[in-house]
Amino acid sequence: MTSQPVEQTFQVLPSLLSSDFFRLGEQVRELESAGCRVLHLDIMDGHFVPNLTFGPPVIKSLAEGTDLLFDIHLMVTRPDDWTEAFDFPNTRCLTIHAEAGYHLHRSLQKIRDCGKMAGLALNPATPLDVLDYLWPNLDLLLIMTVNPGFGGQRFIETSRRKIARAAELIRERSDGRVVLEIDGGVGADNLAELAGLGAQWTVVGNSLYTHGDLAEGHRRLQTLGERAWKPNRP
Ligand code: DX5
Ligand code: ZN
Repeated sequence: MTSQPVEQTFQVLPSLLSSDFFRLGEQVRELESAGCRVLHLDIMDGHFVPNLTFGPPVIKSLAEGTDLLFDIHLMVTRPDDWTEAFDFPNTRCLTIHAEAGYHLHRSLQKIRDCGKMAGLALNPATPLDVLDYLWPNLDLLLIMTVNPGFGGQRFIETSRRKIARAAELIRERSDGRVVLEIDGGVGADNLAELAGLGAQWTVVGNSLYTHGDLAEGHRRLQTLGERAWKPNRP
C-alpha cells in the first residue's frame, strides 16, 4: 500500500522536547513502530525564546537512525543563518517565525531552494494579517497556541478563533494547499475539536510523553484526530 504524502494527511507530531533524552533513540523507534510519520523538533537559541534545546549534531545523529520525517521549528533570531544546517534528507519542513525574520519572502524562498516545505510560525499575539502578501510563498502555517519556549504550557483559548480563521484563509487564498499546523497545549482533551476546526498537523509534547505507553498514546491520538479532521482542501 502506498501511503499518501504527509502534507495531505492528518498527523500527530510528537515534540522531541518532551522526550526522555537518556532514551532518545529508543523513544524515536517506539514512535516509528506506532505508525508515527513526522517528528517535531524545537530549535531554541536563548534569544528569540528564553530557552536552549538541541542543534544540528543531535538531529544529524537521529537522521542516521530513523526514517521518520522531521518538522523543524526554528525559534531563533537570524533564521536564514540556519537553513543549510538543518538540510538533512529526513527534513520535510523548516519553519521560521514571522516575528524573527526581517525579509520573509527571501527566508521562505531559501528554504524552498533546499527542497523543503517552507513554514511560517505566528506567535499567539501575531495577527493573521502578516500573511496577506505571503500566501504563494508558504507551504505550511504554524499557529502557536502557547508562547514559544517551553513544553507543558496551557493552551491559549483565543487560539480557537485564530485556527478557524486560518483554515478559512487557507481555503480562500491557497485552495487548501497550505498545511495548517498547531503547537502548544494540545492533548486528548482538545485535539479532536481542533482537528475539526481544520488543524492538520498537531504537535503534541507533554500530554503524549507523560501519559504511559508512548506508542499506544500516539496511536490513540492519531485515530482521534483522523476521525475529527476537517480537511482544508476542496
Ligand atoms: C514550545 C514548542 C512546542 C512544545 C509543545 O515552544 O514549540 O513544540 O514542545 O509542547 P506541549 O505539547 O507540551 O505544549
Ligand atoms: Zn514547536
